[in-house]
Amino acid sequence: MEVLLQFIFILLFFSSFVTETSASAKLQGLQSLFPRDSLSVENEDDILVSPNGTFSAGFYKVGTNAYCFSIWFTNSANRTVTWMANRDKPVQGEQSNLIFQKNGNLVLTDAYGTIIWETNTFNQDPVSVQLQETGNLVLLNQTGGIIWGSFDSPTDTLLPHQTLRKANILVSARGPNNYSSGYYNFHFNDNNILSLIYNGPEISSVYWPNPDVSVFTYGRTPYDSSRNATLDELGYFMSTDNLNFKATDYGLGPKRRLTLNYDGMLRLYSLNESNGLWKITWLANINACDVRGLCGQNGICVYGPKASCMCPPGFRRTDPSDWSKGCSPEFNPNCNNSEFVQLSHTDYYGYDLQNTGPGKSFGSCKNACLADCNCKGFAYQYTGQGNCYLKSILFNGYQMPNYPSVMYIRVPSQIATTARDDVKLNIPALNCSQRNVVIIQQPTENNDKHSYFKYLIGFVVSIGIVELICINFGWWFIKRIHRMREVVDMGYVALAVGFKRFTYDELKKATKNFKEEIGKGSFGAVYKGVLDDGRVVAVKRLERISQGEAEFWAEVSIIGRINHMNLVRMWGFCAEDKHRILVYEYMKNGSFDKFLFSNSSESLVWTKRFDIALGTAKGLSYLHEECLEWILHCDIKPQNILLDDQLQPKVADFGLSKLAGMKGINSHFSKVRGTRGYLAPEWIMNQEITSKADVYSYGIVLLELVSGRSVLGCQDPLVQWIEEKIKQDEGIEGVADPRLNGDYNHKQLKKLIEVALLCVRGDKKERPDMSHVVSILLRDD
Ligand SMILES: *[C@@H]1O[C@H](CO)[C@@H](O)[C@H](O)[C@H]1NC(C)=O
Ligand SMILES: *[C@@H]1O[C@H](CO)[C@@H](O)[C@H](O)[C@H]1NC(C)=O
Ligand SMILES: *[C@@H]1O[C@H](CO)[C@@H](O)[C@H](O)[C@H]1NC(C)=O
Ligand SMILES: *[C@@H]1O[C@H](CO)[C@@H](O)[C@H](O)[C@H]1NC(C)=O
Ligand SMILES: *[C@@H]1O[C@H](CO)[C@@H](O)[C@H](O)[C@H]1NC(C)=O
Ligand SMILES: *[C@@H]1O[C@H](CO)[C@@H](O)[C@H](O)[C@H]1NC(C)=O
Ligand SMILES: *[C@@H]1O[C@H](CO)[C@@H](O)[C@H](O)[C@H]1NC(C)=O
Ligand SMILES: *[C@@H]1O[C@H](CO)[C@@H](O)[C@H](O)[C@H]1NC(C)=O
Repeated sequence: MEVLLQFIFILLFFSSFVTETSASAKLQGLQSLFPRDSLSVENEDDILVSPNGTFSAGFYKVGTNAYCFSIWFTNSANRTVTWMANRDKPVQGEQSNLIFQKNGNLVLTDAYGTIIWETNTFNQDPVSVQLQETGNLVLLNQTGGIIWGSFDSPTDTLLPHQTLRKANILVSARGPNNYSSGYYNFHFNDNNILSLIYNGPEISSVYWPNPDVSVFTYGRTPYDSSRNATLDELGYFMSTDNLNFKATDYGLGPKRRLTLNYDGMLRLYSLNESNGLWKITWLANINACDVRGLCGQNGICVYGPKASCMCPPGFRRTDPSDWSKGCSPEFNPNCNNSEFVQLSHTDYYGYDLQNTGPGKSFGSCKNACLADCNCKGFAYQYTGQGNCYLKSILFNGYQMPNYPSVMYIRVPSQIATTARDDVKLNIPALNCSQRNVVIIQQPTENNDKHSYFKYLIGFVVSIGIVELICINFGWWFIKRIHRMREVVDMGYVALAVGFKRFTYDELKKATKNFKEEIGKGSFGAVYKGVLDDGRVVAVKRLERISQGEAEFWAEVSIIGRINHMNLVRMWGFCAEDKHRILVYEYMKNGSFDKFLFSNSSESLVWTKRFDIALGTAKGLSYLHEECLEWILHCDIKPQNILLDDQLQPKVADFGLSKLAGMKGINSHFSKVRGTRGYLAPEWIMNQEITSKADVYSYGIVLLELVSGRSVLGCQDPLVQWIEEKIKQDEGIEGVADPRLNGDYNHKQLKKLIEVALLCVRGDKKERPDMSHVVSILLRDD
């Protein structure tokens, strides 16, 4: 042992000698501050550095004209902040200073000279301020004793050698780019247990370790009241409550930090100095949806490759940029006149009213809720025990595949009725797990190799294969990774029944080596194939998709969950090496354009045309409003409307604009997609693209459908031609496709043309929503 220690010391000495010479050459900044010295926000070089340069301290920009005095890792790709003096009170970019006063106080002043933050160390005679190699900013006295150290007032990060004591709390940041104090805390609770706690404006609750289970289950002990915890430089975490764990890369070398992230997750990171990126080497075993408060009041966290939030029917996001503010009802709660909307596989944690428990029939559970004005809804479990939970607050909602609980949320009768109408329109609004979903961004520690590790964890935990920290991590971890991979696969099967990940060989076999090409779209060729189980499929080989496997998988699994009779169903995908392939149901009748523009005399009869107009509108409406607000099609044209056996339309290729790397609503699309003639004017003018661009393309398709003229073929612009034609003697009738031989419903023709002309308005604000189009077409007038 002694020999080993000596060896390490020699090694340390030697390596420090080497790094010191090389480091000091490029070191910029000050080593110490002495009384009356100050650092100015305006001078970029006013930075304190640690002896070997690992850490720097100075003014860090946290917003426009907002700075915090901070400590960060010098060598991470982006400055990784480990401590902030004034995270909740940033100072301006002019005339703010950190001053080491003559009286021994270290103060931060803003432009008006007001003291924003101070160490309160006057009369203790500190003689210098230094940033130690550990990342501790210290005030030292004559004999080198530490008068004050930043380690004693941590923000969201614990560094090796730093002790988390009784009085210390790690407090997460507010958001990915907002360093002010957030709602998550990590500290010793009153029972001497290190816990993660959501401490929000209205509610606080412990979420780790699982409060429903005895702490002994997790090997913790509440007996030691001295309450301290440290991370050593080998990557071993030790706590008086017996929470001990090791980094996966345990050993001397990498710089590490334990950070409570804004998403409520506690992660240990190691720095890869060759590229400056952080990799996660330990993670508290928490499923993202178990983090309390993530989706705010009324919000529901949806388990998936990435956790995401949604609002229940009748509710709307309170703040589109901040899920923690949850969802607000779109109605005035009215106890007298209420009904319930239903959400499958859903529950809300906690806040049960008294009248709760097993042995209730559904009817008595429902009536108990109706009878109590404090009841916001109830969860009923169809497990045979009649478990009925009445809720006084809807908080910490979660939705999980196969979870045997149905949540009934109390809403005024009108709202419940609208929800039922949606079902009647073939828009299964209550089935739409992705309603109002926005993916919660993970913090950007983009180490591709480990990105799958990130989302593995969620699955591993949710599926329940939780193994606590293992002392012999080495071989165990490698073995485990293999098992985790299988678990992820299983997770996906559960996530979207019938949605499958195919191997390349399977698809090669199914398509007889991609023999029969049945189409070619903007994303690549489509082949016909037959799966082992006899299903006929259309196999689309994507080109130019640069997404990594995990990202692609995540996107595609969302598209795979979309299930609507007017949308082509995706059955699976393949992401192997460079191959990115999608597997769809096969549409025997091919695309609509073949029928519409064929020269054959027997073209589509009117009733079929109207069905196609209506069905396409329903499909798009589902994409735009009911389900995924951010799914814009971006390439609506007859070629992308496929017809099934009954000549019912199904929209194909939706969601692909996302795969091609376009962003959602409110961003500028790259012009990867779109077909001339169908493009909305704002698209051509490179303005913001919204769902109204699809509405425009749909309008053009309608005009083609009634007139039988292709927007691509005709000499006059189609819209203009139709408008002229209407002005002539025949009026609307003159527009009708001559191949119909006058055999059509005049009222419907008029309606379609009117709707189409609304849809192709130049000003997108004047175009109707797709759901509005559906209701116009359905109206009996
Ligand atoms: C930093 O340099 C000192 C000598 O100045 C050396 O003793 C120490 O081991 C070095 N630390 C690191 C982390 O390189
Ligand atoms: C950070 O979040 C807080 C609380 O929501 C807010 O007041 C503040 O303006 C935000 N700061 C920035 C830079 O966005
Ligand atoms: C650094 O930050 C910028 C801006 O926030 C971001 O675009 C970039 O991806 C980050 N780089 C890394 C390596 O995290
Ligand atoms: C310096 O601080 C240390 C620890 O706080 C203390 O023990 C020591 O007496 C102080 N020395 C002087 C000269 O004040
Ligand atoms: C933490 O507590 C243990 C046991 O009470 C004690 O031995 C140890 O010295 C403490 N560590 C620190 C850094 O205070
Ligand atoms: C550090 O990054 C480099 C370059 O990306 C990579 O080759 C190396 O394997 C990484 N090291 C570790 C320990 O991850
Ligand atoms: C509900 O009914 C009670 C008595 O029947 C009445 O006093 C109250 O105003 C009603 N509340 C609402 C919101 O209609
Ligand atoms: C809801 O989704 C499930 C599974 O995707 C499906 O079986 C069911 O028919 C859907 N319900 C409605 C009302 O569409």
